[in-house]
Amino acid sequence: MSDYLWFEGIPFPIIKYEKEIIEKSCDKFVFRDEDIVILTYPKSGTNWMKEIVCLIQTKGDPSWIQSVPIWDRSPWIESQRGYQLLINKEGPRLISSHLPFHFFPKSFFSSKAKIIYVIRNPRDVLVSGYFFWRKTKYVKIPESLTTYFEWFLKGNVAYGSWFEHTRAWLSMRERDNFLLLSYEDIKKDTKSTIKKICDFLGKKLEPNELDMVLQYSSFQAMKENKMSNFSLITKDAAHNGLDILRKGLHASLSCWVTAQGLVFSHQQNGNKA
Ligand code: A3P
Repeated sequence: MSDYLWFEGIPFPIIKYEKEIIEKSCDKFVFRDEDIVILTYPKSGTNWMKEIVCLIQTKGDPSWIQSVPIWDRSPWIESQRGYQLLINKEGPRLISSHLPFHFFPKSFFSSKAKIIYVIRNPRDVLVSGYFFWRKTKYVKIPESLTTYFEWFLKGNVAYGSWFEHTRAWLSMRERDNFLLLSYEDIKKDTKSTIKKICDFLGKKLEPNELDMVLQYSSFQAMKENKMSNFSLITKDAAHNGLDILRKGLHASLSCWVTAQGLVFSHQQNGNKA
């Protein structure tokens, strides 16, 4: 059974990650003003946002998303492969990261690079994570959802505590180069969200281009796109293949209440949310 790669108290996936690279990304990675970062706690809709931003960049033309794997279009700054791809890439970069706030490259804070942070109801993050991670070789596999729930509350899951991650990143919400979106709002009104992202990125789309972004980033279109659905994942990373698009559901209001209860009980236990 795989465990985690522990780095300064935070569990990282055991394969494709190295302490030296995480350290380097934190201390040495140099941001450029024109860079765009998609930042999330895992299982919050990261790949959906990547697809949307890629399509905005091509004005709805699907050739790029249908010919290049999603992890190469927007590499992970903290992974071995992603870091190398990013430092060698010229021009504006589309970057992904799950890094907790205090590990994020320092150079970002003196740059004009932009972050899109997607937050999702922790209840759905938890369930999505449980079904995703257990198919991979990246992390320690929980024997049941109850066990995973306990680990989740303690932050003993990949990338640490959801509570700490969101609390720290949300402190950036008033900055001009930080856009906060929720998975639930994107789902409720995807078109308006795409327009909001375009405004944030200073991009203008014609109505037909906007419709193409919407069409090619839909759940069904992404599920059928082998460059985006994780079917190209290699055998060293997953036991029997992966499908990142599981259900794509979002919690009802009553479930959000449950999620808030979860945050509340976490606070009651002496942890700040
Ligand atoms: P579920 O596991 O609940 O289905 P991430 O990309 O951060 O790993 O998040 C994965 C979650 O985002 C999965 O949730 C997946 O179904 C959902 N997702 C991915 N693409 C989506 C899309 N186009 N529309 C709606 N949900 C999407």
